[in-house]
Amino acid sequence: MCGIVGYTGSVRAEGQGGTGLPASSERPLEVVLGGLKRLEYRGYDSAGVALVGPGRDTAASAKKAGKLANLVAEIEATPLPAATAAVGHTRWATHGGPTDVNAHPHLADDGRLAVIHNGIIENYGELREGLERDGVSFLSDTDTEVAAQLLAREYRAAGDLTAAMAATARALEGTFTLLAVHADAPETVVGARHDSPLVVGLGEGENFLGSDVAAFVAYTKEALELAQDQVVTITPGAVAVTDFAGRPAEGKRFTVDWDAAAAEKGGFDSFMDKEIHDQPQAVADTLLGRTDASGRIVLDDLRIDESVLRSVDKIIVIACGTAAYAGHVAKYAIEHWCRIPVEVELAHEFRYRDPIVDERTLVVAISQSGETMDTLMAVRHAREQGAKVVAIVNTNGSTIPRESDAVLYTHAGPEIAVASTKAFLAQITAAYILGLYLAQLRGNKFPDEVALLFDELRNMSRKVQTVIERGEYVRATARSMSAADKVLFLGRHVGYPVAMEGALKLKELAYIHAEGFAAGELKHGPIALVDAGQPVFVVVPSPHGRDQLHSKVVSNIQEIRARGARTLVIAEDGDDEVLKHADEVFWIPRAPTLMQPLLAVVPLQIFAMALATAKGLDVDQPRNLAKSVTVE
Ligand code: G6P
Repeated sequence: MCGIVGYTGSVRAEGQGGTGLPASSERPLEVVLGGLKRLEYRGYDSAGVALVGPGRDTAASAKKAGKLANLVAEIEATPLPAATAAVGHTRWATHGGPTDVNAHPHLADDGRLAVIHNGIIENYGELREGLERDGVSFLSDTDTEVAAQLLAREYRAAGDLTAAMAATARALEGTFTLLAVHADAPETVVGARHDSPLVVGLGEGENFLGSDVAAFVAYTKEALELAQDQVVTITPGAVAVTDFAGRPAEGKRFTVDWDAAAAEKGGFDSFMDKEIHDQPQAVADTLLGRTDASGRIVLDDLRIDESVLRSVDKIIVIACGTAAYAGHVAKYAIEHWCRIPVEVELAHEFRYRDPIVDERTLVVAISQSGETMDTLMAVRHAREQGAKVVAIVNTNGSTIPRESDAVLYTHAGPEIAVASTKAFLAQITAAYILGLYLAQLRGNKFPDEVALLFDELRNMSRKVQTVIERGEYVRATARSMSAADKVLFLGRHVGYPVAMEGALKLKELAYIHAEGFAAGELKHGPIALVDAGQPVFVVVPSPHGRDQLHSKVVSNIQEIRARGARTLVIAEDGDDEVLKHADEVFWIPRAPTLMQPLLAVVPLQIFAMALATAKGLDVDQPRNLAKSVTVE
């Protein structure tokens, strides 16, 4: 959800350094607005900043409903004064609508204190009543303003911002990351986190805070991971961490392994287009360094005892959204390779239904952000029941890996567009690595079989590139269909989750009603939706695969065509049979059945993006959605 940035430093703006003069406003504002730009994918219904500087009695602030550009225009029209510390916020509304007044920061203590917040404060109603009884009046409907007023009261009592923040954090229930600046401490930013993300960026004579490293990676790659329930105080020369009781604590150092350019559009019209083009690299990078010289898979970061992994009798994959579809794909492969039953469940359903989980259950939590609250809660629940949890996560320094027993990082680089693309391919790749590793460890596959399958995975990167190069035909088809109001997607076996992911992409981006079905289920209901001209995408399995999958799907295509459907078919090069039954064919290179999803999903991603673009929609920031959903 919301994006958060904090900065403190005595460094002047680019081109003005080395003068020995006091800090100018440019650097804090530049850092905070730049960070917000990179975090805008976390929420974009309003944005705001607050700045403090020496000799000023109050915090200066600006905030505006709508996208970040509105805030920038506001600041250009009414410049903010010089500053040494700043906080910035981009919001995804929970309490209170997306208005100027409800935007963050919220001020308190006669305008001297400014607070920004991510999360939901559940006891804000009763806290607000208590504060109102004490004569505090509120300007907004938000839970954040309650936190700001509470912090102001604690500050007046303690006279110290860090201690006040710890006291405030102790009083709040729910989930929160809070950052605050106070005019009394013009070089200090204080933060606290409880079930909501916050990382520290370590600079030279300056320090940073962010919801994730994208906030500050343009300035430093050195970072500090904070644990649950910690307070952090940054000044230009120091970072101090405590727990909520005020006892000194430690963060964990790490170095960000991608640079700022990876979080830029790099000449593409949208982040989504760029990220689709990043996919071959995402697959290749996720495979890097996973084998030794003899070709055996070695997962050094999987810190779970081999004997525990050998005794696993059930795997449960938990995830949300696109990551859950990656889990669906992985189920087919892991069951086939390892002969372990695999369940796939939406994390929020898993968490609240009393699932059967014990020490022999391996839970695999898949998440691009590593912050999805539903998934995090499910991870905690699984561990409480004694299960071991392996996280498949893309974002370093995020919460889910830290709270899991082991992590297998996907190396997709930063994913900025809200609709997930390259993370999906990287998640499937990582889950396959895990599946092959388990098959190797448990002796379900001979080493040469594992090596062969691993090589097939390596080849997929080049094949994904081929599908992307064929994208123009998909785009042209999408442009011709911009008036479509309902699109169906069918697939069997691993093609079924691909169909669901294709439908999800279209819903998310083009706001078109789209459904993905198992092709075999068609005649049990969904075929009633098919009438003349109804577009239906069909993911066709390889004609060289097992189990007559191909002929079954070809029959399904005939069934819908007979009812007037317009069939848009994703098929393997050389599949002449399918050609007879398709209105359009999007060709993909030949691949083993289990690996085909890495290719088949790509035309569906491109289709959704091109159709949304043809409708004039913002493909990077679809309405109502946030990339990182940090509330349940
Ligand atoms: C949100 C995003 C989706 C994403 C899902 C899970 O709904 O809009 O694109 O698939 O969260 O996110 P995660 O970070 O856990 O993979």
